[in-house]
Amino acid sequence: MSNCIGKYLIHSGHKIDGELTVQSAKNSFLPILAACLISDGEVVLHKVPNIIDVDYMTKIVENLGVKIVKYNDDLLVDSRHANTYEISSILTKEIRSSIFLLGAVLARFRQVKISYPGGCDIGNRPIDLHIKGLKALNVKVTEKHGYIICDGENMKPNTIHLDFPSVGATENLMMVATKINGITKIVNPAKEPEIVDLQNFLNASGCKISGAGTSVIYIEGVDKTNGCEYTPIPDRIATGTYIIATAMTGGKLLLKNTYPEHIESLISKLKLAGCDVSIKDNEIFTKANGRMKSIQNIDTQPYPGFPTDLQSQVMSLQTISDGVSIICENLFENRFKNAAELNKMGADIVIRDRMAIIKGVNKLYGADVQAHDLRGGAALVLAGLVAEGVTTVSGIHHIYRGYENFENNLTSLGLDIKKIEENTTF
Ligand code: UD1
Repeated sequence: MSNCIGKYLIHSGHKIDGELTVQSAKNSFLPILAACLISDGEVVLHKVPNIIDVDYMTKIVENLGVKIVKYNDDLLVDSRHANTYEISSILTKEIRSSIFLLGAVLARFRQVKISYPGGCDIGNRPIDLHIKGLKALNVKVTEKHGYIICDGENMKPNTIHLDFPSVGATENLMMVATKINGITKIVNPAKEPEIVDLQNFLNASGCKISGAGTSVIYIEGVDKTNGCEYTPIPDRIATGTYIIATAMTGGKLLLKNTYPEHIESLISKLKLAGCDVSIKDNEIFTKANGRMKSIQNIDTQPYPGFPTDLQSQVMSLQTISDGVSIICENLFENRFKNAAELNKMGADIVIRDRMAIIKGVNKLYGADVQAHDLRGGAALVLAGLVAEGVTTVSGIHHIYRGYENFENNLTSLGLDIKKIEENTTF
């Protein structure tokens, strides 16, 4: 695998003009790849996003004995040879999504040993809800030397009330319950489109799940599952990022392969700000001209509220919008690291605890800035695309975790961004 530790060199002064086909959703693809362990046949996943997190997840799953072959944009996954329930700690440190293996491996082997997961440094990311849910299913959980060890020999169905609709906890509990005889109910689950996608994938593999996307999910355990072919949903966060890029640079952009209903929370706000967004089937056309009005209040919330994964990008937009904006980050406490970087570029952002107060300025200026996480990295690129002079963004390996072809896509739309490369292997 190759890990890019280069930086981006960005010149402003260009408007977006063109069209893009949006990649598959990272946050669907990763749990689905883990869920392949539940399938008793060969799975073919179409439109695999070409991103580093998928490389990591593929490696972790292969280490469990699963055979994976990449063929063009498809991944052929055969879990019938999986032979261990111990998940290598070296790779799980790199990727938060390795936590999905907790549910998938437990469903497959009725036991699992996994180290605490890594991923973006966007705050304290506890897994207490995952563990509480597993215990409610009569899984014996021990935590020792940084490992979580689960014994599911005596798993039983139950009704689990989640205190908070955690995406990861909902996905893990759905996966475990597929192999518990009887009906498990998850009350107050996450309602994100990626949860519905996981349900659809598991059902295509022979599981019996209903209710994803609503306030209660029902999972009826099955003894046998099957292989299937599946295409994950389009990435709503990549979709939103490119739309915000258009609102910032001006110009026009046609996005293909989108589910517009998945980012209504963003589209409704951008329309109020003066951006012209129109929808036809699975396409979104965005047109922007001149300075946007500020969006006064942005509160990140579980779906269908405003996504935390678009908070950094919308903050970049607010720095150059007309007026004052207040962003409240309710999900991840460390997700304001970009504010200091944007202030280096001339932005006027004040942080008070979980609140950012942003006074729109007339202009940003190019500077050397540092990406601290995936979405924050993309947001700094957006700022660089409109900042007078030259901007360099370091730490772009974060961006490669989730955005396919990021700089090539932006270049194809007429923007000026180059990668200065330094490669290492891992
Ligand atoms: C997933 C997404 C991530 C997105 C997030 C929220 C993937 C791979 N990642 O992350 O991109 O930003 O949803 O939409 O799908 N929490 C607890 N205890 C737990 C679990 C979560 O307190 O056991 C808290 C977290 O600290 C956070 C909130 O719940 O404040 C949301 O976390 P969660 O929904 O679990 O996010 P992830 O699944 O980690």
